[in-house]
Amino acid sequence: MTPASSNDLTASDSNAASVHSPPRQCCPVAETPRLLLRRIDRDDLDFFAALFADPEVMRFSLGVRTREQSGEWIDRATATYCQRGYGPWGVVRKLDQTLIGFCGLLDQTVDGVAEVEVAYRLAEPYWGQGFAPEAAAAARDLAFGEFRLARVIALIDANNIRSVRVAEKIGMDWQTQTLKWGRRLRVYQCTRRAPE
Ligand SMILES: CC(C)(COP(=O)(O)OP(=O)(O)OC[C@H]1O[C@@H](n2cnc3c(N)ncnc32)[C@H](O)[C@@H]1OP(=O)(O)O)[C@@H](O)C(=O)NCCC(=O)NCCS
Repeated sequence: MTPASSNDLTASDSNAASVHSPPRQCCPVAETPRLLLRRIDRDDLDFFAALFADPEVMRFSLGVRTREQSGEWIDRATATYCQRGYGPWGVVRKLDQTLIGFCGLLDQTVDGVAEVEVAYRLAEPYWGQGFAPEAAAAARDLAFGEFRLARVIALIDANNIRSVRVAEKIGMDWQTQTLKWGRRLRVYQCTRRAPE
């Protein structure tokens, strides 16, 4: 998801030093017509360091990040897989196996309430092709299916029109606003449908 959100380079309590993810190429967590979602690891550092160093990509977030901060973000992702099962997954274009960004589920606290955010961030050459909504829909489905969550949110700067469109395309509604990371953000949400 997200956002002015942090999507999320903020620190957590996690210490990933001893955590190892399974071989990443053999076990995608989700597949869509054009994309795979898979766990990320330190082998992806070059890609994520470049992604988080791009001012346009980070415009509605907390600003660009250093290579070291990007590595720490990967370590926190790895720890989150271990603790929660989910996290920010790498988005891979099936056509050529290119890593194009991340999309996944991030724990957030919004006005004191624990929430899970669908977060997404792609490298600029891959914008405008519907990849983010395709990946975000898969992450939403994992949230409601495998992880049995009742609700997911997205935290979005109102000026981030592209991200607002992604949230809308995956069926999220603008619920309220909040102050987080020193910014006013829209809270989009969607809830798991009751079985028919
Ligand atoms: C937000 C983001 C994930 C959108 O991903 P995407 O795969 O490009 O999404 P889409 O292709 O569905 O495009 C979404 C909207 O962006 C707009 N858009 C797409 N390409 C555009 C371009 N080149 N110029 C201007 N607007 C563009 C369109 O309005 C589109 O909506 P539409 O299809 O209804 O017209 C991507 O731009 C991104 O990674 N941005 C930086 C990180 C970020 O802001 N993440 C979200 C934080 S809350």
